[in-house]
Amino acid sequence: MRDLTDAELAELIDKDIFHKISDAADKLGLECYVVGGYVRDLFLERPSNDIDVVVVGSGISVANELKQRIGKRAHISVFHNFGTAQVKFGGMEIEFVGARKESYSHDSRKPIVEDGTLEDDQNRRDFTINAMAVCLNKGRFGELVDPFGGVDDLWDGIIRTPLDPDITFSDDPLRMMRCVRFATQLNFFIEDETFEALERNADRINIVSGERIADELNKIMATRTPSKGFIDLYRCGLLRIILPELVAMDVVETRNGRAHKNNFYHTLEVLDNISKATDNLWLRWAALFHDIGKPKSKRWDALAGWTFHSHNIIGAKMIPSIFKRLKFPMDAKMKYVRKLVDLHMRPIIIADEEVTDSAVRRLMNDAGDDIDDLMTLCEADITSKNAARKQRFLDNFKTVREKLDDLKERDYKRLLQPCIDGDEIMALFNLKPGREVGELKKAMKEAVLDNRVPNEREPLMALLKEKAAEMGLV
Ligand code: CTP
Repeated sequence: MRDLTDAELAELIDKDIFHKISDAADKLGLECYVVGGYVRDLFLERPSNDIDVVVVGSGISVANELKQRIGKRAHISVFHNFGTAQVKFGGMEIEFVGARKESYSHDSRKPIVEDGTLEDDQNRRDFTINAMAVCLNKGRFGELVDPFGGVDDLWDGIIRTPLDPDITFSDDPLRMMRCVRFATQLNFFIEDETFEALERNADRINIVSGERIADELNKIMATRTPSKGFIDLYRCGLLRIILPELVAMDVVETRNGRAHKNNFYHTLEVLDNISKATDNLWLRWAALFHDIGKPKSKRWDALAGWTFHSHNIIGAKMIPSIFKRLKFPMDAKMKYVRKLVDLHMRPIIIADEEVTDSAVRRLMNDAGDDIDDLMTLCEADITSKNAARKQRFLDNFKTVREKLDDLKERDYKRLLQPCIDGDEIMALFNLKPGREVGELKKAMKEAVLDNRVPNEREPLMALLKEKAAEMGLV
């Protein structure tokens, strides 16, 4: 975050493209501003190639005028229905819109649009930090128009709506997801009134398409500390609607003085742990869902206390329907998450007992290429506060990992060991031990190692016969 005077802003947007837009707007005598995320990101020092431009008048006319100035190097798309135009130029995407006054009907995200002033346009934006504008007209080039104190909110780390938050969220309920998403990405605090409006309007999320919710969830998931987003979603009531299966994990039951752990907060700890180890979005989702089967599998046993038998299998079975509801991909990504949820107990069981070759080999076989990701998930799953216990698990996992590497290498070597041996070669060509046998074996081995022939009897036999003929043995 940095402070910027208008002169410094002018310097930052001192780019050919902005001057061309400026000339185009001045020629038409229209007020023109760069707004929204691009301005916010100038203060946050996050370079962006997505530029939103608001024109007080016709956005399309300025885009057309700009196109004339850039010529063939720019590509323009005009959307007459929406009164917008997009210009692609030099890796940048510039959206032009006319300043609008919008109002929404109660059961749809589709607005009723009227022409408006810059102020109307800023009023209808989602958050104060996204409602700042910088003027592009020559006389005021670089002038910041920040009617709601967006810069102050950036400094204070606050997410807040420009208008009454009930109106802002009710106009477009997707903004509730955006609110939590920005708070998570920027590690900001959601201002009290805005937060209370999230609570009041949470049910309105039902009119938002699954894909858009999924988009925001994935953005939350991709942050440094995704748990913050899920806690905010939980506290304001959105999670109860979007992912009730997670909310069901926030219980601690006690019987005969024995309590089980709170699996919701344990899960969030696992999620943050794994986020330090990997950027793999789907591995992070697997972490969030790894214990999702626990509420359904919970039993009380007089001897053992609380048990969660087969929670991994029950959890894995829940994954397809959760993915379908969230409009997540139903392809290999779903299968990957389902597999990791299913297998997440296996390395722990192995590490708990003696680490045998056969158990590790079976695990390797079931996990296939995802074995390393599974181990990463299991390591993130250790949230014990008992240092000695934690260390014991980590040490055991280290042994499992070493065994995996060792087995992989041994299996690889075995795979490359030709399936015809020296004795068979001697019998085949009537040879005594000696140089010729060694030479034939070498030819075979190299062919297998170089992947020129598969390690199977028939092709190897053909290769041997060819080589023996070359050597004058047949
Ligand atoms: N906007 C809004 N309500 C929405 C979506 C967008 O008010 N539901 C406004 C905000 O002013 C926002 C601008 O439109 O800054 C551009 O939206 P978008 O490109 O979606 O987001 P950015 O703010 O640029 O941020 P990001 O790219 O991280 O989504």
